[in-house]
Amino acid sequence: MTLRRIEIDDFRCLAEVRLDLDPRYNLFVGPNASGKTSLLEALFFLGRGRSFRTRRLDRLVRQGREGFRVVGWTEAAGHTTVLGIGGDRRSTEIRIGGAAAGSAGELAHHFPPQVIDPEVHKLLEEGPHRRRRFLDWGVFHVEPTFLETWQRYHRALRQRNAGLKPGADPESARAWDPEILAAGTRLDEIRRSYLALLEPTLQAFGARLLGLPVALSYASGWAAGETLAEALERSSDRDRKLGVTHVGPHRADVTARVDGQVARERVSRGQQKLLAAALTLAQLAVQETRAPGTGALLLDDPAAELDAANLERLLDLVRELRVQLFVTALRPDLAGLGLPGAVFHVEHGRISRQG
Ligand SMILES: Nc1ncnc2c1ncn2[C@@H]1O[C@H](COP(=O)(O)OP(=O)(O)OP(=O)(O)O)[C@@H](O)[C@H]1O
Ligand SMILES: [Mg+2]
Repeated sequence: MTLRRIEIDDFRCLAEVRLDLDPRYNLFVGPNASGKTSLLEALFFLGRGRSFRTRRLDRLVRQGREGFRVVGWTEAAGHTTVLGIGGDRRSTEIRIGGAAAGSAGELAHHFPPQVIDPEVHKLLEEGPHRRRRFLDWGVFHVEPTFLETWQRYHRALRQRNAGLKPGADPESARAWDPEILAAGTRLDEIRRSYLALLEPTLQAFGARLLGLPVALSYASGWAAGETLAEALERSSDRDRKLGVTHVGPHRADVTARVDGQVARERVSRGQQKLLAAALTLAQLAVQETRAPGTGALLLDDPAAELDAANLERLLDLVRELRVQLFVTALRPDLAGLGLPGAVFHVEHGRISRQG
């Protein structure tokens, strides 16, 4: 599906934006602090129900205003769906085709954007939370049972943790172990099969962008060679003492290696960006093979951190993916992506179409 139109009110510095979009390549050009990243952030919010820059809703509401609104018109097989997300400082409300939606996950069926921004290296550098979220987004798109399994596991985990708190009946924690084992083992399996699916594309993209072999390794969230049942049993005294569950898929992580070295420790910032971009694009490519014509990529200031040759490699790869593109730049000279279908000028939070 493609996003054909967007309306944004009071999101960051964007007071009132009304844009008809190109189904293929939209380029947004403007100086620093004009609102380029804010626009991509609003698009991301429309598809994911969260920001890629902050968890704090109050940061997103335009200064002096009470709430924001982002509405998008998506088109698939000649059929238009209106997606809307409104938020204030405390909560958000999602509407799909005029009806209230239960979760942000439902938005992604209509507009599933990926983002590569100048902070993309955090995927490798920061703690495992980002990498689990990345992994689970990919699994969500290829495995229909993912969402239900993830929710079952996390519900059981919350209940088990509540039962581990001081004063709680220890049996109330144990009672959740069968559910933790069933959902946790399944979650581990579907994550592993997703990574096996992702790996060949990642290797190809890694070789193109970095010119070096790239590999992933997955840690389940408990010791290798043990079953989850054995790990839970071994961890039970510690869990009770500290009041939380120490093993399970909520502790999983993915490590990326470049030429055999752990990327987080050994590669330059530019290489980290290329590796994180390879991961994101590989995920997008896999998503596209499962549901062709659905993907969208938000590419924020792609030239940041990259030399001319690396920028060209990245843009070549992006162009070949043939997903709908939303690209920002300080100057309109990103030749590597070909000719944009629409160019927008961004200045002081106002966006206007140039061609
Ligand atoms: N809640 C908000 N209300 C009003 N303005 C905001 C809010 N949050 C951020 N801003 C302002 O929005 C402006 C645009 O920020 P944005 O990050 O979108 O710029 P940009 O065009 O991406 O700049 P750069 O080229 O430096 O990346 C900044 O001046 C920022 O201070
Ligand atoms: Mg920016």
